[in-house]
Amino acid sequence: MLTKNIDLSNKRILVTGAAGFIGANLVMELVKRYPGCKVLGIDNVNNYYDVQIKEYRLDCIAEVVQDDDQFELVRGSIADRELIDRVFTEFRPEVVVNLAAQAGVRYSIENPDAYIESNIIGFYNILEACRHNPVEHFVYASSSSVYGANKKIPYSVEDKVDNPVSLYAATKKSNELLAHSYSKLYGIPSTGLRFFTVYGPAGRPDMAYFGFTNKLLKGETIKIFNFGNCKRDFTFVDDIVEGVISVMQVAPAENENGARYKVYNIGNNDPVNLLDFVDILQQELISAGVLPEDYDFEAHKELVPMQPGDVEVTYADVTALQEDFGFRPDTPLREGLRSFAKWYKEYYRI
Ligand SMILES: NC(=O)c1ccc[n+]([C@@H]2O[C@H](COP(=O)([O-])OP(=O)(O)OC[C@H]3O[C@@H](n4cnc5c(N)ncnc54)[C@H](O)[C@@H]3O)[C@@H](O)[C@H]2O)c1
Repeated sequence: MLTKNIDLSNKRILVTGAAGFIGANLVMELVKRYPGCKVLGIDNVNNYYDVQIKEYRLDCIAEVVQDDDQFELVRGSIADRELIDRVFTEFRPEVVVNLAAQAGVRYSIENPDAYIESNIIGFYNILEACRHNPVEHFVYASSSSVYGANKKIPYSVEDKVDNPVSLYAATKKSNELLAHSYSKLYGIPSTGLRFFTVYGPAGRPDMAYFGFTNKLLKGETIKIFNFGNCKRDFTFVDDIVEGVISVMQVAPAENENGARYKVYNIGNNDPVNLLDFVDILQQELISAGVLPEDYDFEAHKELVPMQPGDVEVTYADVTALQEDFGFRPDTPLREGLRSFAKWYKEYYRI
């Protein structure tokens, strides 16, 4: 296990993408666990998906914040260089967690500009700001999509990741490369986290489990890609937050290249077949009262071929995470989907 070298108790922490799914959950846990820390969030609250869910997450943060000084949100873009420079000189963050990004694989096919703006220019602005306003640790979201069409599973951080199959994946791989060069050149301690399909309450409506739920509720048919033969490591959001908080407290030591640079997978290490996933989802939707007891699930699913840019199996090797932090995601899928179904019922007042 690595020794913690950052105490978050009284730190100034910058979280970009704070109105996002992972960001909001991270902020809530930080302010609950470390009442003395100050969190500044940045989010442009864009309309890539339903803005009301982002506002709802911000309301949830407001409910757990213990005093007004503990959390503040700057509504703006990380692609706005002037804004980022101002935030860094005024707030002087000691730990930075960059979660703001244009997410989604399919959307990148129609909207490439959004990815270059947020994931490349925005990311570069954050790095430059860390260079001129030194921080103790820069943690950022990468993605399992960097593994592209790799055949070897489980995916390990030791594997080559030179074959991205979407622009989204290419931007995430670029983030890791940029972070490496900044770590080496300017001594910025950085840790990249490759998240594997994150799900949970108040999650992202653009993701399959959320979209499936909307469609099943409307009586529409859901399309299950690659005829259901897709396996994913579904990771519950609380596990991701636990992982991020563990990682935040350990700024990496210099590696053999003289860079304070690390990358980890955070995934469940337990791939689930998409058909089994939707089956458990519909059972939990019935239990929660989102769908009626006699819902004819079989009549509402259609097995279709693969989408461009998608990958058949994603599955994380989390040995390094476990060895360095003594932690691995372990929330059972049924339990995670149960809390999503309960949240969905309350949020949409079904
Ligand atoms: N959820 C997953 O399954 C998953 C998997 C792999 C990687 N990731 C990565 O984790 C991070 C967080 O993902 P999430 O699921 O919470 O996504 P999300 O879309 O819910 O959160 C991202 C937030 O960033 C904000 N944002 C986007 N561009 C911005 C910009 N230019 N300036 C300021 N704010 C901006 C958005 O408004 C959003 O609130 C992202 O970097 C994503 O690529 C997520």
